[in-house]
Amino acid sequence: MEQKLKELQAEALQKIEQAEELKALNDIRVAFLGKKGPITEVLRGMGQLSAEERPKMGALANEVREAISEKIETKQKALEAAAVEKQLASETIDITLPGRPVKVGNHHPLTKVIEEIEDLFIGMGYKVAEGPEVEKDYYNFEALNLPKGHPARDMQDSFYITEELLLRTHTSPVQARTMEKHEGKGPVKIICPGKVYRRDNDDATHSHQFMQIEGLVVDENITMGDLKGTLQVFAKKMFGEDREIRLRPSFFPFTEPSVEMDITCKICGGEGCNVCKGTGWIEILGAGMVHPNVLEMAGFDSKKYTGFAFGMGPERIAMLKYGIDDIRHFYTNDIRFLKQFAVTE
Ligand code: DAH
Repeated sequence: MEQKLKELQAEALQKIEQAEELKALNDIRVAFLGKKGPITEVLRGMGQLSAEERPKMGALANEVREAISEKIETKQKALEAAAVEKQLASETIDITLPGRPVKVGNHHPLTKVIEEIEDLFIGMGYKVAEGPEVEKDYYNFEALNLPKGHPARDMQDSFYITEELLLRTHTSPVQARTMEKHEGKGPVKIICPGKVYRRDNDDATHSHQFMQIEGLVVDENITMGDLKGTLQVFAKKMFGEDREIRLRPSFFPFTEPSVEMDITCKICGGEGCNVCKGTGWIEILGAGMVHPNVLEMAGFDSKKYTGFAFGMGPERIAMLKYGIDDIRHFYTNDIRFLKQFAVTE
């Protein structure tokens, strides 16, 4: 019997040693120490032993049980610890891996050009003014020396809402509104960026809605020289120091004299090419000396005050600056187009 118990102990210990999982260990526990296990089986035969041997065998059986239990417990702890280790290893985060790039948006090319122009004029002491997009006929036309029935109204096909209200066709009404607010006292020095609307059919160079930037300076002793100097600074800062400007006589009802400003063509440097239609010059904006009627209607004394004004289309400026060939690119928001204006540093 003693022999049998020792064999069982050796067998159990070996199996425990070899167990690789907690479940296998538990199976061993049940198999060796359970009620139907071999040790219980051996003890059942104790009745045949002498009275002297019985307690000896009983004690030995208990020793064997204890040895097996102890070994199981030690092994269980080792297996549990190994399981934790394994889990930790599988969940390790490699902090040296490069992160996923964060997608950064960028400003719309038109916004960039408008902000650049704003910064430039703010640097010269201008304030940014705003006005409504749904405008009174009075500010959009009449206060700008375009009375009802004036033929020059035809230059700007309009979206009328009522007889007296329309979607503004240009940012020039902000001139009249700003001068009114100044109640006849200079200086006035503003630029006004904003949306304007015209009944045009959309194509590569026309849009029923586009942007304009208006400029207005009113003070004593403002001359055409001030206008020319200002536009020259603007053109060189915007398009490059090597660009020249020229002023061509033109007509706008709200300025007298009126001019259009051209810059030398960047492509051919003034030689003449198909971009500048062989002239060497590219038209950029309209401008002029504020018409005395406009000053007077807005409450300024035209004997004391003079002023200049200009109006430009930032789309056109962005198209020339970035070589964009279709105005519709600005409004269709194709991500492949917009992404090209991302800041890359
Ligand atoms: N308002 C004119 C237009 O939309 C542009 C313009 C021309 C504005 C001359 C001015 C200016 O302020 O002086 O065509």
